[in-house]
Amino acid sequence: MMLQHDVIIVGGGLAGCRAAVEISRTNPSLNVAVVAKSHPIRSHSVAAQGGMAASLKNVDPEDSWEAHAFDTVKGSDYLADQDAVAILTQEAPDVVIDLEHLGVLFSRLTDGRIAQRAFGGHSHNRTCYAADKTGHAILHELVNNLRRYGVQIYEEWYVMRLILEDGQAKGLVMFHIVDGKIEVVRAKAVMFATGGYGRVYNTTSNDYASTGDGLAMTAIAGLPLEDMEFVQFHPTGLYPVGVLISEAVRGEGAYLINAEGDRFMANYAPSRMELAPRDITSRAIAYEIRAGRGINPDGSAGGQFVYLDLRHLGKEKIMSRVPFCWEEAHRLVGVDAVTQPMPVRPTIHYCMGGIPVNTNGQVRSSADNLVDGFFAAGETSCVSVHGANRLGSNSLLECVVYGKRTGASIARYVHNRKLPSVDEQRYIAEAKQQIQSLLEQPGKYRINQIRQEFQDTMTQYCGVFRTEELMREGLQKLAELQQQYPQIYLDDKGNCWNTELVEALELQSLMLVGQTILASALNRQESRGAHFREDFQQRDDGNLLKHTMAYYSPTGIDIQYMPVVINMFEAKERKY
Ligand code: FUM
Repeated sequence: MMLQHDVIIVGGGLAGCRAAVEISRTNPSLNVAVVAKSHPIRSHSVAAQGGMAASLKNVDPEDSWEAHAFDTVKGSDYLADQDAVAILTQEAPDVVIDLEHLGVLFSRLTDGRIAQRAFGGHSHNRTCYAADKTGHAILHELVNNLRRYGVQIYEEWYVMRLILEDGQAKGLVMFHIVDGKIEVVRAKAVMFATGGYGRVYNTTSNDYASTGDGLAMTAIAGLPLEDMEFVQFHPTGLYPVGVLISEAVRGEGAYLINAEGDRFMANYAPSRMELAPRDITSRAIAYEIRAGRGINPDGSAGGQFVYLDLRHLGKEKIMSRVPFCWEEAHRLVGVDAVTQPMPVRPTIHYCMGGIPVNTNGQVRSSADNLVDGFFAAGETSCVSVHGANRLGSNSLLECVVYGKRTGASIARYVHNRKLPSVDEQRYIAEAKQQIQSLLEQPGKYRINQIRQEFQDTMTQYCGVFRTEELMREGLQKLAELQQQYPQIYLDDKGNCWNTELVEALELQSLMLVGQTILASALNRQESRGAHFREDFQQRDDGNLLKHTMAYYSPTGIDIQYMPVVINMFEAKERKY
């Protein structure tokens, strides 16, 4: 018999888990399930380090939700939708307290209140944290709460397809990585909380599972993806591996230093220095490296990294506030940050764009229309609170605020609705056919070969600095790689734990997402936030203060635009 649930959520990270908890709290009689590609506590949210912003005023009594909203909108280079930002920042203090009640152990001030630290682009110390393992602390409690609320968890299931018929999401097709079994699940509402796509690039802070599957499935179903050109580089990826060294390290007072020993941020953002927003800081590091002031492993000038210097913070502070970052540098590159500076350079970290949703998490099929039964939240969605550049510690917040809101709106949506009818046999047959052809095709390319070339292409042709010429070349190279895809060859022909098959499906998602990023970026002839065009260096509010809506089809990508909601702060020149 076909699997069925009132609500099926794809993704076991913060947004998906928070939504599941909210649906169950709102209506305990609803049958809710979460599908995860791995185990939910291995979702990428677990790797979040620095914290979650909220104007609790525990450290800084002058803070307010309005100040948080302004910082977020300015940080977004004015592309964020301000109604969504107001919700995010107004609801922030309550969701933090609610997490605490769910069992999350935040770091404390000496008087017992939740501690708050400085973060880039935030004008007040408002980032709540659990040392530098905040995602770990939150996700573990949310997953515990899934059990408490009786949410069914499908672990190690790869979702292959969104079933969307006549403008309504009706369910999913998924296969069990453990034994290859294919199932169709029907549901009154489907939610995607499938995270980001860091693996589109060759150096990223994201885990191996961040392959943009939810984005790709949405696009293949004929729905738009919003603002995909805005790709966040985190300034401090540990060189050369690219893993995250939290902004919390700079929040606690660390310096960025070039080969000449200068705190070069004085030349780029004198009022904020190392705590400028990420787009500005990442570009500054890239400029320093380009100008020959990067550092080599032997300490000489002209290399590919700069230093993040924590030494003046002292051992006690380093080990109590950012112990995980110390451990990463020690374990991965043999640097003891108490006595040595860390080598860092920008690394791909976050996707500002995503599946367009309204402030109740319901997916848009265009600027004016919504999809029945389809919801999204977290990094995979675009509501849009981050616009062209996200401030650090606003993404955990978004997952929780909009995970919760989306959960509540799904509970309302499914009330008194019937399960849709779905042609199970047809979908199973099509999925089997897709898998069979991947297993049997006598191809000549290895997955790793195409994936590496693709990731290098995206990094080279659509990185920190972009031009029309570069991106056109990138699209051309990508089209060639996409043509090679039907000739990939799999060694593993089996059903049991066929991770090669998963990688083949993921590669398809990665390339589609990459194509959408390139096409959206090519069309935006201005520089805004993380999207920097060397051939159009100014922001163009007159023509381009609007969201990109990219519609994929096998013949190409059609770009349309959607207005930005501006109801609090007029766009101004952005200076720090
Ligand atoms: O640097 C960090 O800890 C990352 C935080 C974030 O992306 O919000």
